[in-house]
Amino acid sequence: MSLASTSFSQFEGAKPPYTASFMRQASQYRPRTYRTRAVIFSAIIFFSALWYFAPSSKPSESDYWKEFPSDHPFSKRPEDAQVALPPKLGTAANESLPHDPEHVHPHLHLLVPTTKGTRGSCRTVTSAMILGYPPPTLIGYGHRKPGATELELTVDRITRIRDYLKNKRNVKDHDFVLIVDAQDTFFQLPPRILVERFQNIVRGNNERFKRKYGYAAVEKPDGSRPELIQKYSQRVLFGASKLCYHALKDDPGCVTVPESTLPPDVYGWKTDTHPDGHLNRPRWLNPGAVIGQAADLRIIYDEVLRLMAQRHTSHSDYQALTQMFGRQEVIRELERLRTVNKAKEWVYGLLGISDAMEIEAISVRLEAGHRYEYGIGVDYESQLFFNQILSRNDLEWIKFSNITTTSHLQGQFGVPREHRLLLPEDIAALPDPFDQTSPSTERSAAPSFNSTLDNISHTEQHLWSNVSLATNPHSASVPVLLHLNGDPKLRNAWWEKMWFFPSARALLRRYVRSAHDLDTAQSALLGGQDWWDMRGGRGGLWTDDENWVTISEVCQGQERDLFDDDLGPWGKENGDPDAPVYNQFGNLIKGKATEEEAAKKKKEKEEEREKKNKKKE
Ligand SMILES: *[C@@H]1O[C@H](CO)[C@@H](O)[C@H](O)[C@H]1NC(C)=O
Ligand SMILES: *[C@@H]1O[C@H](CO)[C@@H](O)[C@H](O)[C@H]1NC(C)=O
Ligand SMILES: *[C@@H]1O[C@H](CO)[C@@H](O)[C@H](O)[C@H]1NC(C)=O
Ligand SMILES: *[C@@H]1O[C@H](CO)[C@@H](O)[C@H](O)[C@H]1NC(C)=O
Ligand SMILES: *[C@@H]1O[C@H](CO)[C@@H](O)[C@H](O)[C@H]1NC(C)=O
Repeated sequence: MSLASTSFSQFEGAKPPYTASFMRQASQYRPRTYRTRAVIFSAIIFFSALWYFAPSSKPSESDYWKEFPSDHPFSKRPEDAQVALPPKLGTAANESLPHDPEHVHPHLHLLVPTTKGTRGSCRTVTSAMILGYPPPTLIGYGHRKPGATELELTVDRITRIRDYLKNKRNVKDHDFVLIVDAQDTFFQLPPRILVERFQNIVRGNNERFKRKYGYAAVEKPDGSRPELIQKYSQRVLFGASKLCYHALKDDPGCVTVPESTLPPDVYGWKTDTHPDGHLNRPRWLNPGAVIGQAADLRIIYDEVLRLMAQRHTSHSDYQALTQMFGRQEVIRELERLRTVNKAKEWVYGLLGISDAMEIEAISVRLEAGHRYEYGIGVDYESQLFFNQILSRNDLEWIKFSNITTTSHLQGQFGVPREHRLLLPEDIAALPDPFDQTSPSTERSAAPSFNSTLDNISHTEQHLWSNVSLATNPHSASVPVLLHLNGDPKLRNAWWEKMWFFPSARALLRRYVRSAHDLDTAQSALLGGQDWWDMRGGRGGLWTDDENWVTISEVCQGQERDLFDDDLGPWGKENGDPDAPVYNQFGNLIKGKATEEEAAKKKKEKEEEREKKNKKKE
């Protein structure tokens, strides 16, 4: 078989063998014309006979799995991690606090890149706290760079994330890390659901990958029998979007990525074909939220920085990650085509159930010997992350206890029966939504209890089925978090629809109070809950340079947008007993202030007096 010279240009820069073998397979067995059912049927019989005789791979072809390093450097898998989830609350306290210096169980880290407290970032961190997440780590907080270009800011942000992941003292390879966009993320469900769903999705996909891609034999250094390992696996999940990165139309990141797992008619007969994209099934990567183990994310962000350093290829992390996802899929597909049973593939192609992915229309440059395998996948059914862009109509606020509403929506959205609109079982198994953080047993725990401020009144709603949950009826999923990257005008309205909003201040006070609680301190150390951030502390935030900042420091002035309850500034609801009071000469007479503050105040007062004196004159 001869190769047209144009074929090579498709894989510009690749070594000819990759191009040659791939083109041969791709073109030889693809049906080109429409065939009648009869022909298909005879073909099935004919090829069924050939099934077992077709060679599955030709030894002369290059092995893409080996040519492009694909064996993962971090051999542990996220779905196998023994995550100790928070115990059901109310268990008896145990006074002895064993230490976990070895850090044997994975912890969860929540990274929120933001240089200052804004309305968006304060909503992100307070919703996380209300749901009992470990204290968020603000990336780049206090490091504003006025005058820096967009590219410089992105590089700084990604470098800080990567450096945090490399900080061996706090972050172990097997720790789970969740990174979210600071400005437009609302948490809806507790961390337990996040981690369990992540592990379940990855476990399911990896079972599929065993069948789809098979195994590779790895030589042992000691010369014993080679070990069989699964060729490709999924290790990190990003959010899925209906839209691909705009500047990459013909890139594998937009063309070669797998199809959604949602049914092909999930949005009706125009699914995937409506020109404005809002009926697309989400399948493209969105970098706004990602979860994975630290070791896996580290090599991803190393590569993002490498790509961004080659300025001409990538201007943003979004672009770089899209390219990485696409190239990963190209190599996987080339390797699959190399080893697949050709007869089977051909028949599956006719039946329309082939795993084949689009790799003919793309133009991609592959560097020999470079790693393209990162275990990247996306969350097609918004179990974890809901991306709002082009999807605002895919979200309904549902009280699952109201059967009238759910059956109405079931009909309206044409949800198939196997996807009944029921409260997901993992949520139904959770304790009371208003009990996500353990109540303090210490009477003295600050902030002190106040029946107005701590009024969590909605007693008749203390069930997950009785609070309004943002739900994607198309996939019958209740996402763990919402990424509001669509219309910014919707952010205020949606925030007020979040189930915790009416009690947000009371729930946040409860979370802060649990900081000093024996239960929490203990579960942070015991097997029970030791995936908490081990640096300890609640009610505040860490920065990536290891400073501890309080919520009031970061979110002062945002109370109206967070709580809308006219109860005053956070932490000063009852007036502030420690607020410094100065006399007319600027001397501190009550409360606390640092020397600098006192000196500043003194100067201010002096200036004030001078001004007054001048006026009098
Ligand atoms: C507390 O925990 C320790 C170690 O896990 C155990 O040996 C002890 O029996 C526990 N005590 C109570 C009262 O549960
Ligand atoms: C259920 O929802 C419908 C429509 O939203 C509403 O009219 C009805 O009162 C609700 N039923 C209950 C029991 O809350
Ligand atoms: C708590 O709030 C509810 C309604 O918002 C109100 O009816 C109730 O009296 C409040 N309780 C206290 C102790 O303030
Ligand atoms: C759910 O809420 C409704 C009113 O919003 C109340 O009538 C009903 O009793 C609640 N159901 C449960 C089981 O608490
Ligand atoms: C509780 O908080 C309210 C609102 O800030 C305040 O008016 C009231 O004095 C407080 N009560 C106590 C006992 O501190």
